[in-house]
Amino acid sequence: MKAIAVIPGKPNSVHLAELPQPSLNEVPDGRGVLVRVLRVGVDGTDREINAAEYGAAPQRCEFLVLGHESFGRVEEVGTNVRELKRGDYVVATVRRPGTSIYDAIGTPDMTTDDTYFERGINLLHGYLTEYYVDDADHVVQVPQRLAPVGVLLEPLTVVEKGIAQAYEIQRRMRVWRPKRAAVMGAGTISLLAALVLRLRGLQVTTFARTSKPYLNAELIEETGAQYLSSQQISFERAAAEHGPFDLIFEASGYSPLVFEAMQGLAKNGVLVLASVTGGNKTVEVQADRLNLDFVLGNKVMVGTVNAGREYFEMGVRDMSHAEASYPGWLAKLLTHPVKGLESWAELFTKLTSAQGAIKVFCEVASL
Ligand code: BGC
Ligand code: ZN
Repeated sequence: MKAIAVIPGKPNSVHLAELPQPSLNEVPDGRGVLVRVLRVGVDGTDREINAAEYGAAPQRCEFLVLGHESFGRVEEVGTNVRELKRGDYVVATVRRPGTSIYDAIGTPDMTTDDTYFERGINLLHGYLTEYYVDDADHVVQVPQRLAPVGVLLEPLTVVEKGIAQAYEIQRRMRVWRPKRAAVMGAGTISLLAALVLRLRGLQVTTFARTSKPYLNAELIEETGAQYLSSQQISFERAAAEHGPFDLIFEASGYSPLVFEAMQGLAKNGVLVLASVTGGNKTVEVQADRLNLDFVLGNKVMVGTVNAGREYFEMGVRDMSHAEASYPGWLAKLLTHPVKGLESWAELFTKLTSAQGAIKVFCEVASL
């Protein structure tokens, strides 16, 4: 079967590869699930892997099949799978258990291992192919009604985890009633963060670079959140006018903003960092002031990466909630479909240079 792969370490090596069809017996104890891939989203991580900045091939393999944002339909299940059946729509998680205690309790997203395994990213093949097999423990069901937007579940889980962890941390407060939230950035993750924070009932201000008119800004405003551009107002001013913020979700991809966000945080507030910044940017900061405000204000800053199964399940519930509260909103994020694995070149051109793209994805087969 066909697959879209790269040769890790070799820039711009994306190509069409051939893979053997997977089989259910690759998974022990009759727990295998064979899935027909329908759609796969691509993002900055795929771009970085193709630029040879990131990613590793499985052992004894010179290529890595890309794709970690999957959506598919179950074809066949092993004898010990009761929770899924042929025809069910599913999304598979990305990270697979390693050896730390966190992996052992089913939270590989919290692994302390230096080497971690992520399908389509690190040491395991991804989903940009025709079929995959995985353990039912890593495969999450999506209701049929959500099939048209199911490919957004994996990026949504990154947001779910960050926000759930923030609330979990804030249990330290005995009583925490967040009112104002800020989101830094207006890419897919930031859009989804604004959505989820609105679903939690918060007043949301999104702060990003591009000025309006801007599709992403319109979408943000459709959720009832506010959009501000750094070309019109500094974050400091914005925080003075609309903050201070009880929760800030940073997903701009621009690390200097982290320090600005720190200054816009309310007393007892929590700042969630979700930007994967592979570069080596350096900035000068007001260290004493930032430190003092954090100390005197009991503030928290937390990093978050990847997401375990529970956040996929949370994401499914929030997708249903989103469809009820903002019907059709999620589908508007699916701006750039590309038909067929053989259109790998177009998929990557769109990923790197399409104007106004929110989500670029491959339609591997029809829904
Ligand atoms: C993926 C995460 C992954 C992270 C780091 C992101 O693009 O969505 O699942 O953990 O990259 O590898
Ligand atoms: Zn991703």
